[in-house]
Parts: sequence; C-alpha cells; structure tokens
Amino acid sequence: MTAPRHFLDLWRMDAATLRLILEDAKTRKAARAGWPKARVDADALGVDRTLAMIFQRNSTRTRFSFDAAIRQLGGDSVIATATDMQLGRGETIEDTARVLSRMVDAVMIRAVSHAAVEAFADAATVPVINGLTDKSHPCQIMADLMTYEEHRGPVAGKTFAWVGDGNNVCASFIHAAAKFGFKLVIAGPQRYWPAPADLAKGPGLIQVSEDMYAAAEGADCVIADGWVSMGDADYEERVEAFAPFTVDEALMATAAPDAVFLHCLPAHRGEEVTGGVIDGPQSLVWDEAENRIHIQKSILAWCFGALG
Ligand code: CP
Ligand code: NVA
Repeated sequence: MTAPRHFLDLWRMDAATLRLILEDAKTRKAARAGWPKARVDADALGVDRTLAMIFQRNSTRTRFSFDAAIRQLGGDSVIATATDMQLGRGETIEDTARVLSRMVDAVMIRAVSHAAVEAFADAATVPVINGLTDKSHPCQIMADLMTYEEHRGPVAGKTFAWVGDGNNVCASFIHAAAKFGFKLVIAGPQRYWPAPADLAKGPGLIQVSEDMYAAAEGADCVIADGWVSMGDADYEERVEAFAPFTVDEALMATAAPDAVFLHCLPAHRGEEVTGGVIDGPQSLVWDEAENRIHIQKSILAWCFGALG
C-alpha cells in the first residue's frame, strides 16, 4: 500500500508541488467564475469521496471553506467537534485515525497540539490535512500567497512584513518563504518571536525585529494576526506587549506604494489592525478568505492523487 499524501506542513513539501497546488487553485477559480457556489467543478474529482473534519478549536473559514471545497469537487463531508466524539472522552488519536481511515477518504483536523496531528497522520491510511495547530497553519498561507499573486504577481523576490505574534500562522509564512523565495521581515515583542526551529527553516530569507516601522519599510505586503490566539490564557499580558504593534495607516504609508494588507481573520479592529486599514483600499482580506475554498480544493486534489 502506498503512503497517503498528508498535507501537514509547508516545510515538508517540495516547492514544485506547492507551486502546482497554487496554480491549480488559480485555474479552478477562473474556470468557475460566475457559477453558482454549489455547482460541481467540471472534473468532479471528488465524486465518491468523503472528507471528514475534526475540530478541537473554533473555526469559521476553515470549516466552511473545506465543506464548500469538497462539495464543489463533487464529494461529501462529515464534520464533528472533538468534544462530540469519543476523542473527547479519551479515545486515542491513533484509534480515531484508524477508524476514520475505514470510513472516509481524507481527514482535515484542527487540533490543540501539533503532535496530535502528526500522531493522527502516522496512524491514518488516508490523507490527513492540518487545519491549524498551535505550531502551523499551512492551508492559510497557501490562500494568502494565491491572493497576493492574483493582485500583484509572483511572490518570488518580494518582501512580506509580518507584524505580531510569531506563532502558528507566522511559522507557516516562514516555511513558505523558503519554498516560494520571498523575504519575510517579522516585527513583534521579542518574547513572542518565532521559535528558533522555525526561523532556521527560512535560511537567509527571514529577519526578526522589535521595530515594526523598519520591518514594513518598502514592504510589498503587510500581514497581521490576532494578538491572542486560541488557547492563549495570558490575554492581559499579550495586549500590553502587543499594544505598540497595531497595523495602522501610518505604518502602511511606510510600505511600498502598491503594498497590500493580509489578515487570516478573525480580526480585532483597534488591536492588531485599524478599521481604516482592514476595511481600506489596500486590504485583500475578503479575497483571501474566499481563496481558502479554491486552495483547499487543490490541496484535496493533490491529497487524492489527482494532481502532481
Ligand atoms: N483563518 C482561519 O483559519 O479562520 P478560522 O479560524 O475561522 O477557520
Ligand atoms: N493565530 C490564530 C489564527 C486563527 C486562524 C490562532 O491560532 O488563534
């Protein structure tokens, strides 16, 4: 039996495969322009396939985009929160993976711990997709890069400025920099900088600083994320530490004249970004959210062996 194609982290993938997935998503999006949202894509490669989704954390975009994606491919979905499952009563992650592998064709899991997703994938005999962990959010960054390229062309050689926490979403941006060849300048309080193991995955492409104006200067894209992630208990400390790191109009003015703004959402206006920026002309956040659907389809296509 051949090993299933898991989509767990961008650093594990080869660059050519990631580029293939990105281009497929652009093609799929263009091919269904103007179509009703639920019409099945012409190649209907998800027919006879079911995607299971497990959520240990809240989700709006990941949940609805994967559901729309598998339906647009002609397949079906089963969604459960972990607390509704026996997983919530102590059944092991490995046994859950073995059982679901007999029932569905792929599993998307949003988990509290990255190690749990890796354990799930090790035990599964069907493809497993990381829908966000404490350590990474690979599907999100694929949608982000697709969005940038739709509006501004190839990301290779560009400079992205990340303002905020160096946790999961930022880590996947670091992993992406090495695969797609863009620079990433990260600004935030030192104690919330990315883990050294992640920084090491973008050799020569990543800079870290506490000066967000230096980071954003001349940048082609400015990105923010919430100051307090799911599972963070230290709300007050974080709000205090990140208070000087709001992406506002003054910061955007230091970026390149045609710079764009990205945010994975959910957003907190008045915290990591002003309403003027996220609702302003440089913001691509609604395209970014929609592109989650298109990129999830291409990730699924690769997982199913229908792409690459
Ligand atoms: N950006 C993102 O993953 O959103 P959700 O948490 O709503 O899925
Ligand atoms: N960093 C955020 C991303 C949400 C999509 C979190 O983990 O809550």
